[in-house]
Amino acid sequence: MAVNLKYSCVGESVVRVDADDKLLGRMRYTGDCYDKAHYHGRTVRSPHPCARIRKIEFDDKFDWTDVTVVRAEDIPGENVLNNFNMDVPFLAKDGRVNYVGEPVALVAAPTEEMAAEALKHVIVDYEVIEPSLNVFDSIAKKNLIYGDDNVIKEYNVNKGDAKSVFASGKYDVFEGTYRTPYQEQAYIETQAMIAVPEENGVTIYGSMQCPYYVRKESQKVFSFPPENIHVVQMPTGGGFGGKEHFPTVIAVHAALLALKSGHPVKMVYGRAEDMQATTKRHPSVIRVRTAVDSEGRVVAIDSDIIFDAGAYSMASPVVLARGAIAGAGAYDCDNVDIRARAIATNLIPTSAFRGFGAPQAFFAMEHHMTRHAMRLGLDPIEFKRRNLLRQGSVTATGQTLKDPVALGKCIDALLEKFDFNGLYSECKRQSPDAKKRRGVGFSAVFHGAGFTGRGEDYIKAKAGVRICPDGRVEVLCGTTEMGQGMRTILPQIVAETMRVPFESVSVAVTDTSDVPDSGPTVASRTTMIVGKVLKDAAEKAYEAIKEAVSEETGSDSVSCENGELFCGDKRFCGMDRAAELLEAHGRETVFYSVYSSPPGVVWNEKTFHGDAYAGYAWAATGCEVEVDMETYEVSILRLATACDVGRAINPMLVEGQIEGGVIQAVGYSLSEDIIMKNGKIQNGMLSNYIIPTAADVPYVEPIIVEEPYWNGPYGAKGLGEMPCVFVGPCIADAVLMATGIDLCEIPITPEKLFAGAKKGPEKK
Ligand code: MTE
Ligand code: MOS
Repeated sequence: MAVNLKYSCVGESVVRVDADDKLLGRMRYTGDCYDKAHYHGRTVRSPHPCARIRKIEFDDKFDWTDVTVVRAEDIPGENVLNNFNMDVPFLAKDGRVNYVGEPVALVAAPTEEMAAEALKHVIVDYEVIEPSLNVFDSIAKKNLIYGDDNVIKEYNVNKGDAKSVFASGKYDVFEGTYRTPYQEQAYIETQAMIAVPEENGVTIYGSMQCPYYVRKESQKVFSFPPENIHVVQMPTGGGFGGKEHFPTVIAVHAALLALKSGHPVKMVYGRAEDMQATTKRHPSVIRVRTAVDSEGRVVAIDSDIIFDAGAYSMASPVVLARGAIAGAGAYDCDNVDIRARAIATNLIPTSAFRGFGAPQAFFAMEHHMTRHAMRLGLDPIEFKRRNLLRQGSVTATGQTLKDPVALGKCIDALLEKFDFNGLYSECKRQSPDAKKRRGVGFSAVFHGAGFTGRGEDYIKAKAGVRICPDGRVEVLCGTTEMGQGMRTILPQIVAETMRVPFESVSVAVTDTSDVPDSGPTVASRTTMIVGKVLKDAAEKAYEAIKEAVSEETGSDSVSCENGELFCGDKRFCGMDRAAELLEAHGRETVFYSVYSSPPGVVWNEKTFHGDAYAGYAWAATGCEVEVDMETYEVSILRLATACDVGRAINPMLVEGQIEGGVIQAVGYSLSEDIIMKNGKIQNGMLSNYIIPTAADVPYVEPIIVEEPYWNGPYGAKGLGEMPCVFVGPCIADAVLMATGIDLCEIPITPEKLFAGAKKGPEKK
């Protein structure tokens, strides 16, 4: 029966539910939890990028009475975090350390001071081994860190016959090599965990994206029954991928110390420790070659993608997968050869970071396309447009795009606000001697939301709604709020579906003993995947309530409007009686649903062929920069981006995600990088690792484009990561146009531009 909707919640910019507590400083994070009984945990770390541990000694001048120490041999179960076949030891394994900062032993003491002092009295005797500190040394097997070739993962994406096209001599062939840096997540709240020993179990509270990852991995370390490990996500001050897997490491550390000492143990990293010891974005070196015919069509793409994975795999295979899939950009090309490798080095392990390998690959491909256009004397936006994917195109992995491809819509929406062509010709007319020179850039990207290939089928996200005795509705899901707005968005979806007021729906505490496993909070999957499951669960709940009222009243036209139940057009009762009616009529008050991939998705993990993602979001971005030709400072005058989000469940939060992601990517493009010396981070503090401040925030114009995804809740697609994907190439294009200095890398710092200007105009 069609219900005439008077009350609508989806599409409204309701104020996020956690705004006040966060703004007013009332939110209590893990580090704010204070209890006299807490012990404080600290980590003994390797100062060497590669070494053998000869012995660990405890200085007898120090009083160890109140200090608990944990060493690798104290770990009862597996000393390895092996989610997705990872190989990360919780504490240095087999007497070997493979990067600076690798945990070697743990201490806990009743006060922070005592723990810090104890740390200084653990004396580790190392035999230093020559490390491999860059991917090329590792490929040459200078030091064996992983398997017998240091290749953690390799994917090949092949379509058509790129080799013959390049060999034919018929086309304009152009090659370039592109480099991208490390990036630090720089979440406001550093990593933090508290473990409380329980009888035959442990409870873990902390800052994390994926409580079920923490739970499942901890189960392999400890010998209690799995149900005795409880994980509770505390309010989390940003994750950006950095709290996807790493929190499991600290959780296990804290739990080991807690169980051995018999006290709750709190581990809160200081900023310096967090920056030194936690995972970052993969640096990359990507060689791209394109062949273009006389009509300006790209007829072949070949790309060699190398990611520096650091000493252990962490999430490198999944990050690399997205990089490989994005290797040919958003282009429709018949012949593609992509080789993508994640290489082990004796450096800090790299892992998930907003965008998951796509920012690197899109930077290389998009910037390369612009450089090829410039070489051919073509207008870059025209050149790109001619070659973009459209509905019916076949992607590099062989997926036929059956759904509408919103790139055209995005470009139209962008050009309406951002006069690329006008700016382009204006820039071309500037005097070469101008003290400040302007340039414009354009990029086009896609982002697949949810896990790659059949990933969502393995996860089988479960989520539900609970009808409480007072008529409130609780969302039960294992995904987390980390600033992106989940606790606001999911209730909007449920409120809309059940026709109840937004205020009456809230998300239950993310506690694994109460909420189901909805899969990890990654891959921009929460709104699109978990939102869909919740919509189904809410529909079930709504139907059950209507049936119960129908049985109670004998009416066959029951409906709900703004939290009031009607029989025909007569009000029967409020939602506060829903739970009671459900129970009286023999029904459950909790309704779950489980995700299943849409039919027809075919993916071959071995050949990397098929439907990489069930649905794609698209974006077109333009930016205008000004470069001071004396100081080489780059200012972004304007950045406009049209993002297809399927359906904006909450337009204000969509804009927030776009603005935040853009700013994070501006840092990636212009200033952020990690300087390594003998494997040690030289700028591991926020005073010398330069992230954008309020003064660096450009004028960002988010343009929302809605091309509904048929299988998303109310048409929504994932958005969270995409803004980190499209900014880099757009800025690089604009700076190249403004200065003529051809760096082919980010971050574009004044120092690099200065050095590039001195080198003169010869192209690499
Ligand atoms: N926004 C905020 N404020 N804080 C975050 O930590 N993480 C990003 C993005 N936006 C993040 C964020 C990353 S890496 C992902 S995968 C998505 O949010 C995850 O949330 P979603 O699934 O709800 O989009
Ligand atoms: Mo986001 S990097 O997928 O947590």
